[in-house]
Amino acid sequence: MAYPAYQKGTVTFEAAVKAGGLEGKGVIITGGAKGMGEEGVRAFVAAGAHVTFGDTDEQNGSKLEAELAPNANFIRCDVTSWEDQLAMFKLAISKSPRKSIDIVVANAGISGPDDVFSVEGQNTDEPLKPQLKIVNIDLLGVMYALKLARHYFMKHPLDANHDRCFIVNASLVGFLDVPGIPQYMASKWGCRGLMRCIRRTTAVDGVRMNLTGPWYVGTTILSPTVQEYCKSKGIVFAEAEDAASAWLKIASTPSVNGRSFGIVPRGTTPQGFLDLGKDDYADGEYLDELQDILLRTSHRLAVKAESQ
Ligand SMILES: NC(=O)c1ccc[n+]([C@@H]2O[C@H](COP(=O)([O-])OP(=O)(O)OC[C@H]3O[C@@H](n4cnc5c(N)ncnc54)[C@H](O)[C@@H]3O)[C@@H](O)[C@H]2O)c1
Repeated sequence: MAYPAYQKGTVTFEAAVKAGGLEGKGVIITGGAKGMGEEGVRAFVAAGAHVTFGDTDEQNGSKLEAELAPNANFIRCDVTSWEDQLAMFKLAISKSPRKSIDIVVANAGISGPDDVFSVEGQNTDEPLKPQLKIVNIDLLGVMYALKLARHYFMKHPLDANHDRCFIVNASLVGFLDVPGIPQYMASKWGCRGLMRCIRRTTAVDGVRMNLTGPWYVGTTILSPTVQEYCKSKGIVFAEAEDAASAWLKIASTPSVNGRSFGIVPRGTTPQGFLDLGKDDYADGEYLDELQDILLRTSHRLAVKAESQ
């Protein structure tokens, strides 16, 4: 079994995922103790998978683990720590029914005031060195997960029992302009860049990657004041459980690769997610021509590393 090379286009999902439809699969979810991650843990367990989830929130993580035992395992894991993520992957291998990792959802993320953007004021001689906490969690943490996932995916054959499915939960901010949030925005656009890179080697290494990009969702990442403010501006929120449904659909459909799905209000589409169709260029347009050249000439794959 092999996955085909990435093809342009959009996908629509029709049937819902059957209960037990992911029986025997080993799943990892980062940031799984709350919010969309928690919904994902619950949804994958309901679909028959074994889930290992990491989070820095030990209280909620342990509570969820106890509730779902023995089908889910929690480990304290700060995604900015390589060692923490390595330990999470090792735990997942040891606990999963087929000793395999088939599906990884890199979901952990934070937002908040951004000190790359803030200016200290005229009375300060020098600006303060910015803390890059948002980039470290929302982008570097995803890169660690991707590196580990690709390594452990390769340990099993790609057949009817196994998958090599990497999903990043980024944001619709990765498709839009938003003032005042340089780290968050760069991280989410960066996740989209990772997806567009990895989807191009799917035919070679059999790893597929897709992205979900939520609109506003009422989770703890947004303070009550921010949620109130957004609602006062008439913003309609998307649902956390619809992100989980999208992940389940992607994981259950091995032909899906290289797509970005918006997690959107149910007034937009009843299932609360849709293929955004924004990651291709039209046939014949200038960037499409350049894209074609790059795909035919990619020297990073063609030239030996020591000669680059
Ligand atoms: N809620 C929204 O409006 C919204 C919109 C677009 C994208 N997103 C993205 O969705 C993802 C999930 O967010 P959510 O809305 O469910 O928020 P949430 O706060 O409910 O969940 C995020 C989880 O990540 C965990 N986490 C934070 N830092 C971590 C770290 N260093 N290591 C491991 N875990 C860590 C938190 O403890 C929490 O359990 C994030 O990547 C976020 O950027 C959220």
